[in-house]
Amino acid sequence: MIIRIGHNQSTNHPTHIALVAFEEFIESKLGDKYDVEVFPSELLGSQNEMVQLTQTGAINFCVASNSLLETFSDNYTLFNLPYLFASSEAYHAAMDDENITGPIFESTKQAGFEAVTWLDAGTRNFYTVNTPINGPSDLKGLKIRVQQSPTNVQMMNLLGGSATPMGFGDVYTALQSKIIDGAENNELALTDNGHGDVCKYYSYDMHQMIPDILIGNLDFLEGLSEEERAIFDEGFELVNTVQREEWGTAVEAAKDRAANEQGVQFLYPDTKPFQEACEPMHQAMLETYPDLAPIYDAIQAYNEQYPSES
Ligand code: GCU
Repeated sequence: MIIRIGHNQSTNHPTHIALVAFEEFIESKLGDKYDVEVFPSELLGSQNEMVQLTQTGAINFCVASNSLLETFSDNYTLFNLPYLFASSEAYHAAMDDENITGPIFESTKQAGFEAVTWLDAGTRNFYTVNTPINGPSDLKGLKIRVQQSPTNVQMMNLLGGSATPMGFGDVYTALQSKIIDGAENNELALTDNGHGDVCKYYSYDMHQMIPDILIGNLDFLEGLSEEERAIFDEGFELVNTVQREEWGTAVEAAKDRAANEQGVQFLYPDTKPFQEACEPMHQAMLETYPDLAPIYDAIQAYNEQYPSES
């Protein structure tokens, strides 16, 4: 049986490297039964399309940004909140805590899929073709690409820019043809996706740490025998650890290449005004989804344990 896994990153990306490790692991243990195939670079479609393919079982797994998943289950809204995590230590500790992720990862079962592990996607920051962003007022009048999620559109509106939702694969052309003035993402988008060839200012406002989520078709997962499921679970953990090991080095290399080869200038503005503009979103989310309050509070406890260094 062929197991198809789709994602939207290049073959250099930590996510691809981790999924290849998964492929080798599963085939080393269950190779007589399963042939794992990893499809990078949106070969199977955009992330939105791949989630639908995973839902129907046309493919078995895909990597989806947490952003997109909020349209499948409200619970995912939580991890999309701007300035939810105080530091990357708090983010990692919270995402590793099954009491926090469990109710969220299982919440799409009715939709036909469930999350099996999370992947680091760093910190999202604004970058623009030719406007340095030193505070929210610099975003005024700028068209900024955001992911296709209501939370991201709302965030952009609160920060004063004009939100332009589109799929990841369309961003490079939109930047180049000046349909948009900028975007927001981690540093790898500059190099791996070439956005740094067009955008010359990358500004560390640190607005979101949005995980990527490996999701699997529910019928497929539930059809595995207990022994097979145990091996797959080990494989999912491997995806998480390999991806995280690769992530730190990949970000450093991307920064270096962006600065020295693409001529990108990195800016370090005061993050407070950005954070203050987004603050109402926390209360609003808790009022709309009161069931998420205990999870939100558990994240705050990690924030106290691992506060921001700045
Ligand atoms: C990051 C993230 C992807 C996502 C992309 C985006 O690269 O890892 O999962 O698709 O951002 O901005 O759409």
